[in-house]
Amino acid sequence: MRLILLGPPGSGKGTQAQRLIHRYGIVQLSTGEMLRAAVAAQTPVGLKAKDIMASGGLVPDDVVIGIISDRLDQPDAANGFILDGFPRTVPQAEALDALLKKKRLKLDAVIELRVNESALLERVERRAAETRARGEEVRVDDTAEVLIKRLASYRAMTEPLIHYYSERRKLLTVDGMMTIEHVTHEIGRILAAIGASEPQTPKKAARPAARAASRKASKAAKKAPGAARKAKKAASKASSKAPKKGGARKAAKKAPRKAVPSSRKWSAVRGKKAAKKAAKKAKKR
Ligand code: AP5
Ligand code: MG
Repeated sequence: MRLILLGPPGSGKGTQAQRLIHRYGIVQLSTGEMLRAAVAAQTPVGLKAKDIMASGGLVPDDVVIGIISDRLDQPDAANGFILDGFPRTVPQAEALDALLKKKRLKLDAVIELRVNESALLERVERRAAETRARGEEVRVDDTAEVLIKRLASYRAMTEPLIHYYSERRKLLTVDGMMTIEHVTHEIGRILAAIGASEPQTPKKAARPAARAASRKASKAAKKAPGAARKAKKAASKASSKAPKKGGARKAAKKAPRKAVPSSRKWSAVRGKKAAKKAAKKAKKR
């Protein structure tokens, strides 16, 4: 599974990414965390990023694109990943598209965490207080003053990505004002609905059609044993044509909410038709 978490500072990207990586066994790729580590280690990237981050601005695109490009090449990203805080600009999103295309990988979804701006300051201040209480170093950008600048950067540079991914039918919006637990539950629900997480979901959707075709075939076989083979063949054909994981996922991607039910209908119609045809032939004989 390959996901992007999109949202303003304090919307819960890091919190949800942590929960999702445990649930789905994938890695979290947080450019903010990587940059903070680079600042602490005083690497050339860290030295470049330090003041920009402290002031609430965005680190240049080429720097973060380079970091992500290297990170995606590492073996632990092969199973899937959650991008937290990347991309943050349209050029970063375009660069990510190119990187994934080169690797022949597809993004499953972009999850936007929508939170009222008035709640963000309280969250960030609470995080700062909790960090301080643990005796750890508080993020230099976790102040009311810098948050205003981070929010301005988000509005100007990152919000256009909502349109970018919505146009590409990748965007799924979650109400980030719910409790942490509810947000995780909602993300899990929508990932299952698009077939991105639980592989059994699309398979289950396909099976009733196959079973219906098989039942019809058995009935036809009882009425006219000679036609049994043909009817069974038709039923098995219907079963093999019922969309499996990849097909349902593709359909779900085209129309995230409606695709699974409509593909289910499609396979059911085909399955029933095939069995009906065979039964009719059997009756005639
Ligand atoms: P980054 O580290 O990515 O920070 P951010 O986007 O500003 O977001 P935060 O980490 O502050 O918040 P979050 O959404 O992760 O929320 P969290 O889960 O912690 O980036 C830092 C800087 O690095 C940038 O400003 C920029 O300079 C630079 N940078 C990074 N990536 C870049 C890029 N791609 N391009 C250019 N520059 C880049 O939650 C916050 C608090 O709220 C926590 O206390 C949590 O417990 C609480 N909380 C979470 N969810 C809920 C909830 N549902 N209800 C109540 N409380 C909640
Ligand atoms: Mg974070």
